Amino acid sequence: MPKETVLARAKLNLTLDVLGKRPDGYHDLKMVMQSVALADTLTVETGTGEGLEVRTDLSFLPNNEKNLAAAAALAFQTVTGRDLGGVAIAIEKRIPVCAGMGGGSSDAAAVLRSLERMLGTGQDLAALAGIGERVGSDVPYCVLGGTALAEGRGEVLTPLSALPHCHVVICKPAFSISTPELFRAVDGVRLRCRPDTDGVLAALEAGDLGGVARRMYNVFEDVLPSRQRTEVAAIRSALVQHGALGANMSGTGPTVFGLFDDADRARSAWEELRQTYRDVFLTETVEQ
Ligand code: C5P
Repeated sequence: MPKETVLARAKLNLTLDVLGKRPDGYHDLKMVMQSVALADTLTVETGTGEGLEVRTDLSFLPNNEKNLAAAAALAFQTVTGRDLGGVAIAIEKRIPVCAGMGGGSSDAAAVLRSLERMLGTGQDLAALAGIGERVGSDVPYCVLGGTALAEGRGEVLTPLSALPHCHVVICKPAFSISTPELFRAVDGVRLRCRPDTDGVLAALEAGDLGGVARRMYNVFEDVLPSRQRTEVAAIRSALVQHGALGANMSGTGPTVFGLFDDADRARSAWEELRQTYRDVFLTETVEQ
């Protein structure tokens, strides 16, 4: 029975802009996305003869098709018409859950890539991203990974020049945020600030890490409830005080990350934030 163990990388939003609400209820977005080394580990096995089985090391996560990894396996089966003969997915979570880091989406993308590698149904990456779109808006990007511009619902992808390698400190405050609620909050206000996406694209093209980091911006930060906005801002300024070239909230939060060109500074930021927060990670950017 084909079986393999794969990594599912976390994603960060270097920028996130909401352009407007669409007739289908989703929003048109413009986001520069980046993969980091922090990853979940998945073991995927087909031909088990046991239907769909999902196990995770976090008891509160769903172990049925509500889990995006399982939804991806079912979508793969539907679109390719290939009977998986029963599939078992075991997930070791390291990416914080409901954190704006695409953990569930990345697990789903890893399942799609793994099933295709094991079963060879002839789907290229674009086709796998198309299957991923049925599972969630961030899944197509997670299929591709690396540095990319995501537009539309998140499924219109343009690969970009890789962000120059850097150290990344990630800190998730203890509160969680509802993604649909935050989208509703954005609908209710006139956004005062937007990211300079074109400036970020030009800085990427020029291989200018500082130029990217200085321009990072996420419009959702402006519509957080005030106590949460204050906490996110405090983490951002702690990162910058420790020498981050720039710091930003990722996705619909609440995770905040900082980009560092100096490993020692990144480590000292990580050490300080670990005194206060439980979910703090020292990682690095990856190209895929
Ligand atoms: O596609 P996904 O299930 O990940 O989206 C979760 C929620 O985020 C949607 O139900 C919607 O409220 C919001 N969303 C949106 N526009 C997008 C992506 C997500 O409004 N482009």
